[in-house]
Amino acid sequence: MSGHGSPIPMTSHRAAPLSGTAEVPGDKSISHRSLILGAMCVGETVITGLLEGQDVLDTARAMRAMGAEVTRDEAGTWRVQGVGVGGFAEPDQVIDCGNSGTGVRLIMGAMATSPITATFTGDASLNKRPMARVTDPLALFGARAVGRSGGRLPMTIVGAEHPVPVRYTVPVPSAQVKSAVLLAGLNAPGQTVVIEREATRDHTERMLAGFGAAITTQVTEEGRVITLTGQPELQPQTIAVPRDPSSAAFPVCAALIVPGSDVLVPNIGLNPTRAGLFETLRDMGADLTYENLREEGGEPVADLRARFSPDLRGIEVPPERAASMIDEYPVLSVVAAFAKGATVMRGVKELRVKESDRIEAMATGLRAGGITVEDGPDWWIVHGRGHGDVPGGQTCESHLDHRIAMSFLVMGMATQSPVSVDDASPIATSFPIFERLMAALGADIRRRT
Ligand code: S3P
Repeated sequence: MSGHGSPIPMTSHRAAPLSGTAEVPGDKSISHRSLILGAMCVGETVITGLLEGQDVLDTARAMRAMGAEVTRDEAGTWRVQGVGVGGFAEPDQVIDCGNSGTGVRLIMGAMATSPITATFTGDASLNKRPMARVTDPLALFGARAVGRSGGRLPMTIVGAEHPVPVRYTVPVPSAQVKSAVLLAGLNAPGQTVVIEREATRDHTERMLAGFGAAITTQVTEEGRVITLTGQPELQPQTIAVPRDPSSAAFPVCAALIVPGSDVLVPNIGLNPTRAGLFETLRDMGADLTYENLREEGGEPVADLRARFSPDLRGIEVPPERAASMIDEYPVLSVVAAFAKGATVMRGVKELRVKESDRIEAMATGLRAGGITVEDGPDWWIVHGRGHGDVPGGQTCESHLDHRIAMSFLVMGMATQSPVSVDDASPIATSFPIFERLMAALGADIRRRT
């Protein structure tokens, strides 16, 4: 949806102790991939626990526009009748990926080695984001891209008629770029090799193996070398999407800063490429435990129990952990405001090209709420004031960024004065039940008219 509806301003007031169980929605990364890979098999893939956020709904629509049959049985349960690798039809309309960088970049990759042409657009946030990081490697397969200056959407991709396999070292730590290249490699003959120097989320690799592709990962001095054999016949799957650790971050962080809280967030995947925030919070002295630790679908899963933690301390977040918590820095910076001392976050240049410039958006809002923040091109430092001593009282701009909106609403639960956001509507892209779920735990978030 590139048409952005009316803004929804919200104010978060000091919360009662948060308590209860927070059943957060399905994982966004895995939901996108389930629909796209389902569309690239012949036969029916059944998905349960799909995130029904706007980002994923836009990907479902795109898969329909490219020939797959995508139907919803009931909440979270979807079926995809795929068209097979190389079977995408040329869409007869512009593909609108709304707010979703993951959606557009993965779909561009998936179609780039088919002999079709597709034009992509998005909302004001997505149309500012860099796409050359994806179209550069797609050109090596033989695809052509024409977009706006700076490699921005709207953009047309002319898929390669005679794709060749590629060997590509991803220049930025990005699972979206890695995944776009792997999805393109599906319809290229021979072996496509992607090398990443820093490990990023590995859902595409795991799921491609699950769908029957020949894919291997070797850890070498160069980094992780991922080799995919092209033109497989992918086998339809039954997929149970795990709950999203990036959404779990919000009730967990809220519980840590609101006095008296004790919240259980069940069934959260702790894939090491995603769980960096929870380790970091524990390093800061958070009362966060993993209960009922188990393995499901080859991935570690636990119920997270988060309790109010009055003695949080600032730390230097290990930069090598950045990729495993890249979406969680905004809410971490809020927790850092309630910790004693400085929380130093380095090696996070990618935060500047997310749905918003997340360092800028958070630093501005935190400063307006009485917190000292220093920042540079790829680092920032939040000087925490300690529990009970964060003034708040500010109105923050969400910049069409769901995680900025949710982070500031979490902040307002524990500040001396309420915290407002100018527009909380982007929350629907990834966590449509946020307002309801937080209210059920004891939060006091009000819509302003
Ligand atoms: C995602 C990868 C990350 C992340 C995004 C989801 C994915 O983006 O920020 O929310 O599903 O592959 P980058 O690949 O740009 O780091």
